[in-house]
Amino acid sequence: MKKFFVTTPIYYVNDKPHIGHAYTTILADVLSRFHRQQGDDVFFLTGLDEHGQKVLQAAEKRGVSPQQHCDELAPRFLQLWDKLEIGYSDFIRTTQLRHVKVVQDVLQKVYDAGDIYQDEYTGWYSVAEERFITATEKESGQFRDVKELKEKNWFFKMSKYQAQLIKTIEDNPGFIQPSHRRNEILGFLKQPLGDLCISRPKSRMSWGIDLPFDKDYVTYVWWDALVNYITAPGYGVDENNFKKWWPAQVHLIGKDILTTHAVYWPTMLFSLGLPLPQTIFAHGWWLIGESKMSKSVGNVVNPLDLVDKYGVDPVRYFLMREMILGQDANFTLDSFIKRYNSDLANDFGNLLNRVGGLITKLFNGEVPKPGKSEATETEIHNIVNALPEKINKCLSEWSVNGAIEEAMNLVRHTNKYIESQAPWKVAKTDMERTATILYTATEALRAATVHLAAVMPAKTNTVLAILGAKGTGPSWGGLKPGTKLPSHEALFPRLEVE
Ligand code: MSP
Repeated sequence: MKKFFVTTPIYYVNDKPHIGHAYTTILADVLSRFHRQQGDDVFFLTGLDEHGQKVLQAAEKRGVSPQQHCDELAPRFLQLWDKLEIGYSDFIRTTQLRHVKVVQDVLQKVYDAGDIYQDEYTGWYSVAEERFITATEKESGQFRDVKELKEKNWFFKMSKYQAQLIKTIEDNPGFIQPSHRRNEILGFLKQPLGDLCISRPKSRMSWGIDLPFDKDYVTYVWWDALVNYITAPGYGVDENNFKKWWPAQVHLIGKDILTTHAVYWPTMLFSLGLPLPQTIFAHGWWLIGESKMSKSVGNVVNPLDLVDKYGVDPVRYFLMREMILGQDANFTLDSFIKRYNSDLANDFGNLLNRVGGLITKLFNGEVPKPGKSEATETEIHNIVNALPEKINKCLSEWSVNGAIEEAMNLVRHTNKYIESQAPWKVAKTDMERTATILYTATEALRAATVHLAAVMPAKTNTVLAILGAKGTGPSWGGLKPGTKLPSHEALFPRLEVE
């Protein structure tokens, strides 16, 4: 049995979760389900990033303590994950004692190894980004709330690991994905890498984890947050479990947090002498009608509203099908409804309605026993048999939309097959041939459904229950002749464009 350890970023609890948070978490869930289906042992980690200035400011705005703020907002994420059918294995919160202990342990180890020193630093500090920015970054004008700060702080000798990091990225093409992000990081690493300021004086910002070697400071929020990936599997506490899971197969992240994951985190792991995650995959952003989603513009899409109105499966399907790996994607209600109608109502839902309707009419609702196959049936058998490998190939390239397309191609091919074979006409003269056509079409639907289960767990479960084929695998023959198909409602009723 192989193991698959997948992580999402841990989200800041400064506001309600939005479609961007939902996207990465669904992606992790879909990958987990695909791997579980293949018999892999899966550890799926998600959680919340509860320290730092952003969370502190959000709490102050609400007039509550930061811990109370986090405790009150955390359930919003949990409820959303529940509604979105997210089967995480662990939900970490960085204020949990288990995490605080590991962060302090890690800091002490890195300190003892001589990789942390104190220095006075004057620089441009972006409150919004919670980090010192370079003069070039300041000149770009991209950063809000920039002020000059002169402070004594603690630094991590990140520069010491620059050459090792470059070599690792060059030697492992799969480490940073997609490849244009890998090139971006290699480009960034052409400049000398500075050291990383890992502390915040409590006089300025006290919401964080105390440095174990200097109680006047708390830990920089990113150093604290990244460590979550090793806290959860049990670093320093449960060595067996830690060895079982670490390194992670993939850290799924958005493109805006690539530097922290592809530069800070690996150098921290180098200093600790731990292996690096196999892949850091940076996905693109969801744009709303071509523009950036922003609270001030008022175009933030709340995933809960969508789920309440259209159901969980269409939302999961749309997000997974529409975003091409590594690129930005555009969310509009119009594109959501179009995709729903074309793929789910017309193709997938319609195939079930057709085979269900014809079997009811022509075979009394019982799945017929197929007779001799002709070339058209052999073609469908071949597509079904080739599907697992094709889908695995897509997934090994992190292409969930590609995997979905493979399964939907089978659905479309089967709809065309029914049209061209016209079993309602054949039934007038040849019931054995009609039986073969309807068995073949229904079995192809079953196989496609098995492959779509990771993306749409609820509806595919309904379809498999209707076909009496729960728990069947992707290979040909899971559908049993003689199964009585119950009457059912339309799976995906067509939506009107609003
Ligand atoms: N707390 C840090 C992550 C620490 S991980 C050790 C953080 N949190 S966040 O809540 O601000 O963002 C979490 C994720 O949401 C990021 O991966 C970011 O890319 C993603 N998204 C934010 N807006 C998004 C879209 N519009 N579309 C897709 N993802 C987006 O950063």
